[in-house]
Amino acid sequence: MVAAYDATMARLFDRAGVDALLVGDSLGMVILGANNTLQVTMDDIVRHAKAVRRGTTRALVVADMPFLSYGVSLEETVRNAGRLLQEAEASAVKIEGGIAVAPVIERLVSLGIPVIAHVGLTPQSIHQLGGFKRQATTAAARTKLIADAAAVEKAGASAIVLECIPADLAQEVTAKLTIPTIGIGSGPHCDGQVLVSYDLLGLTENAPSFAKRYAHLDKAVIEAAQAFIREVKRTPTPG
Ligand code: KIV
Repeated sequence: MVAAYDATMARLFDRAGVDALLVGDSLGMVILGANNTLQVTMDDIVRHAKAVRRGTTRALVVADMPFLSYGVSLEETVRNAGRLLQEAEASAVKIEGGIAVAPVIERLVSLGIPVIAHVGLTPQSIHQLGGFKRQATTAAARTKLIADAAAVEKAGASAIVLECIPADLAQEVTAKLTIPTIGIGSGPHCDGQVLVSYDLLGLTENAPSFAKRYAHLDKAVIEAAQAFIREVKRTPTPG
């Protein structure tokens, strides 16, 4: 799975063969330059999910439900998730949280809306977590994470993202659950992995340390722009 935000990038990753494209609320940081994901709105996700959908012929398109677009009331949650499937033509939504959001997942699934859960480092809870840091590092937090994962599976989630938790815990959760686990910064033992496209390509300046770069496109972009500048400056102005 790769987090992508526009049609061009979606087309390239789709052609490359990724299974799923996530229109993540990481767009707030990666595309909009914010410090966290909290400012991302439903309209932001709908617009970018439409673009990703247009660029995709094969991969599953999953749209993130932004901060407070779910959980305020079940009615509002259903309408917002519905927009992502109806307006943006996403095929599933992703929701952060465990036991606390299980009733929300159950409701959406009962209405035919596939849900991917997300536990561990959940960026929408950044102020509660006290920063972007590894989660479930104490015995109590490990037990809680296992209970959260079991609850979202029971509620009907189709898969679960495990973000920034110890590799042995991700392995334990993967063995316990029947739904696929998709890891990010959680070691190699998950069923799948997700990366933010801009991190994977080496375009971001402050990528998390666990995000592996598979290219260094930042350098390529700067070199291409400099070649353009040099050529324009060398070309005499007509007349
Ligand atoms: O918003 C996002 O891109 C995500 C992934 C990093 C899992 O939630």
